[in-house]
Amino acid sequence: MKVHGFGRGAALAAVVAVGSGLGGPAAAETSLEIGRSEFAGYCAACHGHDGRGDGPFQVLLTRRVPGLTGLARANGGRFPAERVAEVVRGSVDMPGHGPMGMPLWGDHYRTKAPSQLGPYFKPEDAEAYVKSRIQGVVDYLATIQEK
Ligand code: HEC
Repeated sequence: MKVHGFGRGAALAAVVAVGSGLGGPAAAETSLEIGRSEFAGYCAACHGHDGRGDGPFQVLLTRRVPGLTGLARANGGRFPAERVAEVVRGSVDMPGHGPMGMPLWGDHYRTKAPSQLGPYFKPEDAEAYVKSRIQGVVDYLATIQEK
């Protein structure tokens, strides 16, 4: 499970967009692209390509992987963005994601992870970079909610 160069480029674009105060549709589309790439690389193996809980890893797990397209419906029609962000940050107890404090994706969604920066980022960009990954996943999942 690795982010493709594409994801990195998109994340860089997001950091640049945030830094230069750009907002609106372009930033939203960039965030979605990041999210799509993050989801494919870090979530789809279990939650399935379309987030329906039918990823290829399911057969290896003793716990059923839930679909992620009904999160809004289960929350009274409102997508629980903050909760999803917390799940990705690893600050919610979710055994399916590994022990708390040691999520299966390691430091990927943590700000204090200079080793995750790759060649494009300075340490001081780490926070914006990681935030853009988490926000991307949240934004992407919001778009695949069933009515
Ligand atoms: C190794 C398999 C695996 C991977 C990879 C994985 N998940 Fe999960 N996820 C689970 C399992 C299993 C559960 C069920 C809850 C539990 O067991 O703790 C779950 C639960 C969840 C829930 C809670 C669903 C609910 O109905 O409340 C969310 C949200 C979620 N995952 C999002 C993600 C996101 C986003 C990613 C990628 C960044 C991801 N998961 C990666 C296995 C996985």
